[in-house]
Amino acid sequence: MCGIIGVLGSHEAAPLMVEALRRLEYRGYDSAGIATVQDGRLDRRRAVGKLVNLSDLLVHQPLAGKAGIGHTRWATHGGPEIRNAHPHRAGGVAVVHNGIIENFRELRADLAADGYHQESDTDTEAVALLAQRELDRGATPVEAANRTLDRLEGAFALCFLFDGEEDLIVAARKGSPLAIGRGEDEMFIGSDAIALAPLTDRITYLEEGDRAVVTRAGAQIFDAGGRRANRAETRVRLDSARIEKGGHRHFMAKEIAEQPVVMADALRHYTGGGTHRLTLPEGLDFAATDRVVLVACGTASYACHVAKYWFEQIAGLPAEIDIASEFRYRDPVLSPASTAIFVSQSGETADTLAALRHARDKVARVVSVVNVPTSSIARESDLALPIMAGVEVGVASTKAFTCQLVVLALMALKAGLDRGRITETELAARLDALSALPGLANAALSLSDPVARIAGDLAKARDILFLGRGAMYPMALEGALKLKEISYIHAEGYASGELKHGPIALIDPQVPVIVMAPMDGLFDKTVSNMQEVMARGGKVLLLSDAKGVEAAGPGTWQSLTLPAVDPHWAPILYAIPAQLLAYHTAIAKGTDVDQPRNLAKSVTVE
Ligand code: F6R
Repeated sequence: MCGIIGVLGSHEAAPLMVEALRRLEYRGYDSAGIATVQDGRLDRRRAVGKLVNLSDLLVHQPLAGKAGIGHTRWATHGGPEIRNAHPHRAGGVAVVHNGIIENFRELRADLAADGYHQESDTDTEAVALLAQRELDRGATPVEAANRTLDRLEGAFALCFLFDGEEDLIVAARKGSPLAIGRGEDEMFIGSDAIALAPLTDRITYLEEGDRAVVTRAGAQIFDAGGRRANRAETRVRLDSARIEKGGHRHFMAKEIAEQPVVMADALRHYTGGGTHRLTLPEGLDFAATDRVVLVACGTASYACHVAKYWFEQIAGLPAEIDIASEFRYRDPVLSPASTAIFVSQSGETADTLAALRHARDKVARVVSVVNVPTSSIARESDLALPIMAGVEVGVASTKAFTCQLVVLALMALKAGLDRGRITETELAARLDALSALPGLANAALSLSDPVARIAGDLAKARDILFLGRGAMYPMALEGALKLKEISYIHAEGYASGELKHGPIALIDPQVPVIVMAPMDGLFDKTVSNMQEVMARGGKVLLLSDAKGVEAAGPGTWQSLTLPAVDPHWAPILYAIPAQLLAYHTAIAKGTDVDQPRNLAKSVTVE
């Protein structure tokens, strides 16, 4: 949610910042801007819409200077207009900001009373004005930044750049991540290591409440109490190839195609390099746990929903699921013997992080399942299990979802073992079935062409329904979410059995109904629900295996045949056709697959 870059370099900063913002564009793309200091003079360029508009502007109005800050915006306060684009500037200060300044109204009124007036609708401009007022009162740039930061409430990552200062950026983190990168006589700041990947791999993550005074000689970091702090520098090697499209038309296509490989990576990581021993982290023991509480947002929450079935069916362990944005506002009753599991691709989702903090002292153990091992959620957990999916750039989560499922499946198996619900022999059989998934996923990817043919018709629909039973119910929810977020077609997922309690009224020949029905113990019931749809003129697309497609008989509009799969793990496999359906429908509609409207990859505001 908003990307930040800062450069104190030995080369022109503008091209480096534009390239870094390109890597950060997944965080927001409502507007973009950069500011530099050249010959002591602060200047900026801003453009509405995607980054390409800023690069075009820079061709006609270049911006020189080796020190600069840049920003790509996901609008919170104020629409996507030029005056709301960052960097915000007040006199001799420019500011880029990710997050929300909660007390901005009060600050704005205070500033206005002193004659400092805003031009934008943003919360951020108040920060620039506060700093300028401090400068006017005689503060040095660092003092001005510090006094400004002392006044701010809310969550933020901020960088300040000052007129006349070509070797200074002040950076601060409270609630939103910020990383500092060290080069050879150069320093960089980024909202994540992806932005800094081509510039340096020497990364220091700021901790909650940290402030940093950055010059080319290094960064002086101060903790929330104002004391000098030593933060470890780590080598973060991000293979650039993993952040490129690798010959695919979209990141989403590449990430869908990567699933067999990354699922195999996750399996190898947690099964003794493929030896079929569970090698989950020490301390992940469910013997004394009385329940698991699974919390996440969006697609990650559907992974939790599937895992609920697994923990209950495989381990006999009560499992509760919660949407993170609701969790702490309903005063959940948490048992001190429970394990709370937070699932997040980015590891920075504000609601999930807040839910984790809410649960921390009320449960026995806080475990996270994350893609970014250096993320806030990972660092604030007792145990963090990386999902090994590699960098996910497409806004619609695909490979992170299936890797989350793989890791959650292994956790449910471990719970089954710890609680004496499954034997070592049963575990080995379940792991065998699980290890078949990368191969099956590969086969499922070959559905891409048939899906593309069906997608032309789906693209004409105004509404689409997804149905599933058991652990395929959350998959119906996920299929609908994926479709609506990138194709903008209204879609809903329902538990098949729930249909006749209301949603069946929606059925008519114009509403495609996608039925996700692997050959499992619930197949016959799902097919009965499918028949009810067809009897009312509904147009059914059936996803099943060869036996299922045959058993379902004639009358369906279309069917897609998946490989047969162990029923427990079917949700993981059926994620792939759901993703392909969304992807090809979006292509058929001509929407922006990797950067759908109004969305951002990492949601770091509540
Ligand atoms: C949908 C999607 C979102 C995320 C959600 C949580 O395709 O990507 O629904 O799953 O915003 O994000 P993370 O997993 O980063 O916490």
